[in-house]
Parts: sequence; structure tokens; C-alpha cells
Amino acid sequence: MYKEKILYYLRSSNGVFFSGEELARKCGISRTMVWKHIKTLEREGFGIEAVPKLGYRIILEPDTIRQRDIQSGLKTKVMGKEIHLFPAVASTNILAMEMASAGAPEGTVVLAETQTGGKGRLGRKWISPMGNLYVSVILRPDIPIHKAPLITLTGAVAVASAIRKQSDIQAAIKWPNDIYVNGKKVAGLLTEMSAEQDRIRHIVLGIGVDVNMELAELPPDVRELTTTLAQEVGARINRTALLQHVLRDLEHWYQKFLVADADVLSEWTKFNMTIGNRVTVSGMGRIQEGLAQGIDSEGRLLVRHDDGSIHIIAAGDVTIIKK
Ligand code: BTN
Repeated sequence: MYKEKILYYLRSSNGVFFSGEELARKCGISRTMVWKHIKTLEREGFGIEAVPKLGYRIILEPDTIRQRDIQSGLKTKVMGKEIHLFPAVASTNILAMEMASAGAPEGTVVLAETQTGGKGRLGRKWISPMGNLYVSVILRPDIPIHKAPLITLTGAVAVASAIRKQSDIQAAIKWPNDIYVNGKKVAGLLTEMSAEQDRIRHIVLGIGVDVNMELAELPPDVRELTTTLAQEVGARINRTALLQHVLRDLEHWYQKFLVADADVLSEWTKFNMTIGNRVTVSGMGRIQEGLAQGIDSEGRLLVRHDDGSIHIIAAGDVTIIKK
């Protein structure tokens, strides 16, 4: 508790020295105790400069995610009101699906530093080294089942806009929900659903963002198609702040989606890098080529083949053919 108070004061001084005496007075403890808590913070990864007569100041925030830090700056009503943070799990999506079945409320977030069995789209693995964001959010939308795929598009809009805000990077969406920066993938989303015949029980929106990992952690074939936010901006990224942006933007776009999904589709279209390009789409055992013409009201991709016929694609892998 005192350690958290000291951290609060040091952070609020924004890099200006905070005297040990003042910290001791504000916390109602001795200067020796202040010093002990400072040492604990250093062991947790904080870089704290100590200068006699001036006091202490933070010079480095650790790259660990702490539930308290996320929630303290989070201005959402629903997303992240309940957060479950783990050092390692098989898959945050699997855990979130289990929690949702057990009745966890909408907006519950499951977060892990690493995943041993991370799941990607189309049955692929999502390799999950330390340093990134692995997040699953439980949603309980009262919408018809055929609208469920739009939740993933909503998530993609939120992630792309959060990345733009946090890192000032031009993140774009490749259909349906891969997030790209400078031609390389930086994030992906995987939605899983539990439903009855005509009713959604719950949806888990899984988000993986490549933030600070070493690209060398990935196998070479994946590595050459992947980038990280840190690589793009040339500096480590504050994952807590990024997560707060993601949750805030998710809440914003999810609320909009529940009222008028057309708003989300038009935002998705603004961020997208697929429409208007020649593409190949693989999936369902075939590869087709044509012009990506748009998406329909359920988020399916419309591809015009060279014979003029329009093909509606619900799932697949898009490759944009360079002009
Ligand atoms: C994709 O193939 O692009 C989707 C990747 C989704 C990965 C995220 S990481 C958090 C959540 N847990 C998982 O097991 N998968 C998703």
C-alpha cells in the first residue's frame, strides 16, 4: 500500500525530483521505509534515480503490465471493469470462453504476458513471446447471429484506431481483421462464439498485438511478414497505455455497433487497405483472384472476377497483388 502511494507521488511529479522527506510525510512513514519501498520498486523493474538533497524520480517504467495501472487510468464503463491478468496461459481466448460460460460479465478482460497455445485465425497458431499484448474480451451482444462477424470488424477498427492514437502510426486493416503497418502484420483478431439456435450466449474477442517482442523469437517464415510497434517507432511502447486505448476505443465502437452497425462499417472502410486492390483469396480449398470491390452489410468481402461475376467471401486469407 505504501509502495503504491510512493509510486503514485513519483509518477504525478512527472520526472521532477520528489524529496524523500516529503514522501515520508505524505505516507506517514519514516524515510528509511521510503527507501525500502523504493528498493522494492527497483526490483520490480522501475528505474529510480536517487540524488541526495533532491530526492527520487522515475527514469524508467518497467515493461510489466499491472492490473492496478491499467484500471487506474481507464475511462471505460464496461470494458476492463474486471481484469484477470496471468503470467502465462495456454490461450486467453480459451480461458475467457470458460469464464464467459461460468457467467463472467460483459467487458471482462483476460490478459496474459505469454501464451503457450495461442490460437490464430483459420486454425493457425499464434506464437506468443513476452513483450506483446494478448487480450480477450467477453461480450454479450443482443444481436442476430448473422451479425456476429461484424464484432471482429468492430474490434479491428478499435485496435487500428488505438494504435494510431498511441504510436502515431498509420495502422491499416486487411480484410477481415489483420492490422498492418508499412506492409507487415502487427496485430490479429480472433472471435469465438457460443450460441443457441437463434441467440448468442457470448462472444470472446481475442486480440494479439505485436508490441515489444524481439522479432527473432518468431520462425523465419512468420518473421518476414511481421513487424512490431516498437520496431516501427524505434522505441519501446508502453503496453499499459496501449491497452487502455484499445479498451476505450473498443467500448466506443462496440456501443456504436449496437446502435448502428453501418457506422462501424464505414469506419472500417476508412481504415482498410484491401478494397480497390486486386487480390487473391485463399480458403475453402480454392484460390480466387479479382478486384476487391467492397464489403456487404455482414462484413463479407465482395470480389469481382474478370468475367464480371461478383463473389461473396465470408472467410479466407487475402493477399493484395502489388500494382
Ligand atoms: C490471427 O490469426 O490473426 C488472429 C490472432 C489472434 C491472437 C489472439 S492473442 C489473444 C487471443 N488468444 C488467443 O489464443 N488468440 C487471440
